[in-house]
Amino acid sequence: MADTALVTGAAGGIGQALCQEFCQSGYYVIGLDLPGTKTPDSCDAVVFADLAMLCRDQDYQSKVLAQVRSHLNSNPLKVLINNAAIQVVKPVEQITPTYWHATLDVNLVAPFLLTQAFLGDLTITQGSIVNIASIHATLTKPEFVCYATSKAALVGLTRSLAVELGDRVRINAITPAAVATPMLLAGFEGKNKAFEELGQMHPIGRIATPQEVAQAALFLASDQASFITGAVLSLDGGIGSRLHDPV
Ligand SMILES: NC(=O)c1ccc[n+]([C@@H]2O[C@H](COP(=O)([O-])OP(=O)(O)OC[C@H]3O[C@@H](n4cnc5c(N)ncnc54)[C@H](O)[C@@H]3O)[C@@H](O)[C@H]2O)c1
Repeated sequence: MADTALVTGAAGGIGQALCQEFCQSGYYVIGLDLPGTKTPDSCDAVVFADLAMLCRDQDYQSKVLAQVRSHLNSNPLKVLINNAAIQVVKPVEQITPTYWHATLDVNLVAPFLLTQAFLGDLTITQGSIVNIASIHATLTKPEFVCYATSKAALVGLTRSLAVELGDRVRINAITPAAVATPMLLAGFEGKNKAFEELGQMHPIGRIATPQEVAQAALFLASDQASFITGAVLSLDGGIGSRLHDPV
């Protein structure tokens, strides 16, 4: 039986690339995304569920986990990819507790609860977890307070779980800078100059592709990364090393 992987946010730009990459590498991939989202093309099985509700409702959580288990077919999970996220973009004055709860539930608490739920499986399979964080964990911009804080916390979660879980489960994070997802590209439609400028801000001269994020996740999940745990892989085309002097 193939190794199994659960990918959250599977219908999104990076999620689809993750599903495709893991499928192509021989994993049996279960994709999870919100009810009403398009079924990701390259998943072997799909679970439609709201991760925010999973954090708040114990019965709902049990039902969702049972659904995932039904697709696992008694095979313990080998890889968990916490990729789903929401991004609230609001000035400080407009941020209410509702935005905080929504952001922290999906971006932080759900990754923890899924880790907890599949800890037994991942221990049996000597599996691993990859958390898709963001460059916003360390470098951010105005109006990203909720998102940036949640991603910094996800990095903290990655490190602290790695310490506690030791040799049971490896757990790592990736912090991508801008990634050319369909949504990002749509936002730059008709703004070629701005898109080019964004690329040029990265020393490598362009932004990342979703496939590059997926390939990094595949490596971190693989046995080739067997001594890597608690790591935060910066996938940023060098932008995080750049000093923003006017020359
Ligand atoms: N695109 C970028 O430039 C970029 C850069 C750095 C990090 N990231 C991170 O990569 C990951 C994927 O981002 P993306 O660009 O593909 O975004 P996206 O919006 O295309 O995908 C996110 C997916 O998560 C799902 N999701 C949101 N809330 C959910 C919920 N409550 N329950 C279940 N699923 C839910 C959405 O339906 C969506 O399919 C995110 O963690 C994001 O923070 C993206």
